Amino acid sequence: MSQSAFIGIDVGTSSIKVIAVGPDGKLLASSSSPMTVDVKRPGWSEQSPEDWWRGTCSAIQSVLAVCDSPEILGIGLSGQMHSLVALDDVGQVIRPAILWNDVRSSAEAEYVRSVVGDQTLRRTVGNPALEGFTVTKLLWLKNNESGHYRRVSKILLAKDYVRYRLTGEMGIEPSDASGTLLFDVFENDWSDEVCSQLQIEKQILPQIVGSDETVGYVTTSATEQTGLKKGVPVVGGGADNACAATGAGAVSEGDVLFTIGTSGAVVAPISNPVTDPGMRIHSMRHAIPNTWYLMGVVLSAGVALDWWRRTSGAIQFDELVAEAATVEPGADGVTFLPYLTGERTPHADANARGVFFGMHGGTRCAHMTRAVMEGVSFALRDSLELMNNLHVVPGDAIAVGGGSTSTTWLQMLSDIVDLPLQTVGPAEGAPLGAAMLASVGTGHFASAKDAGDSWLHSESVVEPNPKNRQTYDDAYARFRNLYPALQQMFASAAE
Ligand code: XUL
Repeated sequence: MSQSAFIGIDVGTSSIKVIAVGPDGKLLASSSSPMTVDVKRPGWSEQSPEDWWRGTCSAIQSVLAVCDSPEILGIGLSGQMHSLVALDDVGQVIRPAILWNDVRSSAEAEYVRSVVGDQTLRRTVGNPALEGFTVTKLLWLKNNESGHYRRVSKILLAKDYVRYRLTGEMGIEPSDASGTLLFDVFENDWSDEVCSQLQIEKQILPQIVGSDETVGYVTTSATEQTGLKKGVPVVGGGADNACAATGAGAVSEGDVLFTIGTSGAVVAPISNPVTDPGMRIHSMRHAIPNTWYLMGVVLSAGVALDWWRRTSGAIQFDELVAEAATVEPGADGVTFLPYLTGERTPHADANARGVFFGMHGGTRCAHMTRAVMEGVSFALRDSLELMNNLHVVPGDAIAVGGGSTSTTWLQMLSDIVDLPLQTVGPAEGAPLGAAMLASVGTGHFASAKDAGDSWLHSESVVEPNPKNRQTYDDAYARFRNLYPALQQMFASAAE
């Protein structure tokens, strides 16, 4: 007998992941297509939207094969935030997508700050002008590839491009629109004020749709490439961080989500929008109606450990992490700044770079591995501390992402942020959140909260170990002191 399922698709940076979930929340199948990032120059980061589409098609085909022709009830998408896809007037991609971690647009970020001003940004789009946000990438195109810019008829973000290929419909929902810096997070619409100050034509911006709203239906041409049936409804979905939060049950004020994925993030849902006076913490719309979230972003989290794995010559993560577990907390005084491609929170500095500090003659590879994992955890604590200043009171703290599957890393993070950390199952993160939004959009659940209550269960809780508190506080203080001491040198080195 054929089974029914919702499909969740995450258009990630290192892979496209597709899952099928039964109406009861049971994970039926999962498949992913690896993706590579094209780094043409230092600080650049690009991917081909066509590769996203091909990767999505093949992962969908694999999932459908495992489930044996299931009836697909609905599809939701999540994806890497901010990444600019530029389309011409016949919907063709003009150039490779410029990704969220691409920092080429510093001059444009400076321009946005000078033309719009921090006060207006804070009052409207709720976020600072940074290289990571979509608008600075668009302005870079205008300044550096004017021929391409003149052809732009519409811009989309990663998951919205894949939805366009599935349904033929263009749209964007509030959680991803929040990452463009052109979206008024308070008014829930494109900001006329910011668009006009930056001379951006509003018609190139896609229509705003709801995260759990059906935006389109799988087309005939998409059926041929994916194996899906024609007419399956596809909802708006959400930004990967919003969907990761949804898929882990972090949908209400008091919940806090720690992600150790390619990037790291601390996400705290809030029921009334607030902005950080220094805008070091992002304020975004959640994929849940009338809900926002505060977010701090660590640009290199899992990717920092992967860089260290390759650099140290280790073959397997497990082997590397097992070695790090043999070293005492504090990594014998070795400190690592994980700023391999600059850092977003709290420094907003594209020039910052990775640093190892404090090695001596007895330092071994294992100390440095531990320092990398601790450095990423300290960077996450930086975000939490800024949120504490905004009166975020963590209730349920949940950890997700590849890093959270390591008990060593989970314990370390719990000790460093001094919070019990829960893991939930199914631990599918962003694509599960996307599938939940599809289940809401097709009327299976009244809300994502209801979907989470039905589909999710607590897997484990790691308690902070009070014995490690002082050691980690001291190590965190060393971590905190390093960036200000090096800030000027980072800037000079970049020149
Ligand atoms: C968030 C951000 C990253 C990407 C990763 O602002 O830039 O977390 O969403 O996909």
